Amino acid sequence: LSARKPIIAIDGPAGAGKSTVARRVAAELGLLYLDTGAMYRAVTWLVQQSGVEISDEAAIAELVSQSEIELVQGDVDAGGTAPHALMPSRLHSSTPAPLTVLINGQDVTREIRTPQVSAQVSAIAAQGEVRRALVKQQKEYGRRGGVVMDGRDIGTQVFPDAELKIFLTASVQERARRRQLDLKEQGQPEVSLETLERAIFERDQKDSSRKISPLRKADDAIELVTDDLTIEAVVEKIICLYRDRLSSG
Ligand code: DC
Repeated sequence: LSARKPIIAIDGPAGAGKSTVARRVAAELGLLYLDTGAMYRAVTWLVQQSGVEISDEAAIAELVSQSEIELVQGDVDAGGTAPHALMPSRLHSSTPAPLTVLINGQDVTREIRTPQVSAQVSAIAAQGEVRRALVKQQKEYGRRGGVVMDGRDIGTQVFPDAELKIFLTASVQERARRRQLDLKEQGQPEVSLETLERAIFERDQKDSSRKISPLRKADDAIELVTDDLTIEAVVEKIICLYRDRLSSG
């Protein structure tokens, strides 16, 4: 008999709002939040730094096996002492802090969001050994439950038994518009909507057509199209669905 607490799996394509929504849902419900895309991004950043060819799967597998990824909730203070990794989000915090992402102890929270990393992360996420290593870590993080996890394969591969599965989508145009705003807020150089639309479209294609764990809605996932919904509305909807599930389960 499993004593694990409930899990909310939020999957969907790039830019549908998964991480913002997942983070807020976790904060509202007092659950942990785990951004699995950040893990693939951290590996991509490491590969780029190390000078290993993106196609050299054996060298990348070796690199991943030797590296440690930590996702820390809340800020890492200036002295370098991180709050305990994956501590529960503060309850009812309306603006939860983004996760701090560390790889081999180095803070790469900003670096993993650059267009350079975004351009190559799909190729890394398609590699079997990388996925095996990261999925294993994700299962370990969620072993006791009480977690909101976002990604592409959470409801299908990582936690097929999640209590609530959400498939979050939005049109390519809307997602490009949101990505442009994100980049602006992060102080990154401006990228045209057209370029972003193309990049998002190509990434969708790669993520949905790859052989291993392609992006796919789990049969029992609830699809939410977010084009005309505010973040608050999506968060509220998911919290309602979660409470319904728990009270009926
Ligand atoms: O959600 P994101 O854009 O940060 O994800 C980055 C990349 O990682 C994206 O190309 C898809 C991939 N990914 C994946 O294959 N499986 C996951 N569980 C999460 C992300």
